[in-house]
Amino acid sequence: MPPDPAALQSVAAPESNPETAPVGLAPRQLAWQVLLAVGAGAYADLALERELQRHPLEGADRALATELAYGAIRQRRLLDGWLDALGKVPAARQPPKLRWLLHLGLYQLLFSTRVPASAAVSTSVELAKQGGMGRLAPVVNGLLRACGRRRAGAKPEPWDGLGPLPADPAGCLGLRHSLPAWLAELAMQWPEPEFFAAACNQPSALDLRVNPLRSSRAAVLEAFAAAGLEAAPLPDLANGLTLHGRSGELRALPGYGEGHWCVQDRSAQAVGLLLDPQPGERILDACAAPGGKSTHLAELIGDQGEVWAVDRSEGRLRRVGVNAARLGLGSIHTLVADATELAAEKPEWRGWFDRILLDAPCSGLGTLARHADARWRITPALIGELVLLQRRLLEALMPLLKPGGQLVYATCTVNSAENSQLLQAFLGDHPAWRCLQQWQRWPAPGGGDGFYAALLQAAPPGA
Ligand SMILES: C[S@@+](CC[C@H](N)C(=O)[O-])C[C@H]1O[C@@H](n2cnc3c(N)ncnc32)[C@H](O)[C@@H]1O
Repeated sequence: MPPDPAALQSVAAPESNPETAPVGLAPRQLAWQVLLAVGAGAYADLALERELQRHPLEGADRALATELAYGAIRQRRLLDGWLDALGKVPAARQPPKLRWLLHLGLYQLLFSTRVPASAAVSTSVELAKQGGMGRLAPVVNGLLRACGRRRAGAKPEPWDGLGPLPADPAGCLGLRHSLPAWLAELAMQWPEPEFFAAACNQPSALDLRVNPLRSSRAAVLEAFAAAGLEAAPLPDLANGLTLHGRSGELRALPGYGEGHWCVQDRSAQAVGLLLDPQPGERILDACAAPGGKSTHLAELIGDQGEVWAVDRSEGRLRRVGVNAARLGLGSIHTLVADATELAAEKPEWRGWFDRILLDAPCSGLGTLARHADARWRITPALIGELVLLQRRLLEALMPLLKPGGQLVYATCTVNSAENSQLLQAFLGDHPAWRCLQQWQRWPAPGGGDGFYAALLQAAPPGA
């Protein structure tokens, strides 16, 4: 649901004066503003971007504000657990301004290896005073100090000192790794719940895809090395590489403006390769925006052929055009349309495409590490609606494929109801179609996103 701008304004905390602000207050003030906005319904990345535009921060301050904001949003459930254990009023009944400020302080005490405990407490108290909550400053001070006392000694895990953990395995997993209850229950059915849960809270890798029509992986690596950037080739991906360490504004890196590379996770790169498009073919990318995979497909066919990038969001589709232009790809054509209605809207497209990619809208449970607030937005009911849409999209795209043509169905989730189970039901209803290959990748700390992909083949001619 889009955030309510009125709500955002009403919760905004008064801002500190940078002239008189104590050292280190500005990034924490900014992170607090982001927590307030997200608590009122804003998207985390947009809220952070907006705050950074209003109060530009550079270097270490910018990195700290980002880490604190995203970290405290991810860890909301565990931080609430600490508030429940230490406060007189349960977290859910705290005034939001106080709750998010305490989250900010607790996050630093529990997770930050760089921030001394004394700085976490004193800056939070100062923010309370400057934010019009002087009366509550002793509460902030007392609660954070109580947490510090419980954490005294070697306490490696952020839940150490919290007290008895829930006895049921899902409740315990959900609290320790800050997952909503429904997701922790679901994860218990997966092969490695603990591994999945930990991966949701680790920084994700920053992978790039080199555009072989404009450069080469060796040349990009050389240009990065000359600029003092550490990068490494990705195994199994001829044009993939990963950047070590965050590098600020990506658009400022060598080769970006010239279209030598774009950002794309290693698992997403594997999806384009599975479709294996050939020069001269007609390819449909049915849910294409912002174009990570359309541009990959165009590169794979050497820009020889037609890639139709369809998306129902006009705004997001515009980004496909911008990305294609930067990468110098002329084979991409865009169309704003609902892919479930393409067969009716474009009857000339029936049986016309050699290959189709359906990178379906999904729950995104394979990319929770990248999207700090996503776990608090998605619900089982929403996933139920997505499953229906995914199936409708598949059925609607079938008639557009040539007999014997190939279709890749992909999602960035690890939820089998949206993946293998959905495919099984589809193939049960269409026995002339075959599944040639499918894989499920799990999110890994510092590794790729969780992704599912299946390569399907339509019934051969005359079948
Ligand atoms: C997972 S994202 C696609 C990411 C894209 N393939 C990439 O690699 O950059 C899913 C997209 O599906 C689009 N979408 C959702 N429902 C759709 C529909 N019925 N028809 C067309 N596009 C749809 C959304 O607007 C969103 O851009």
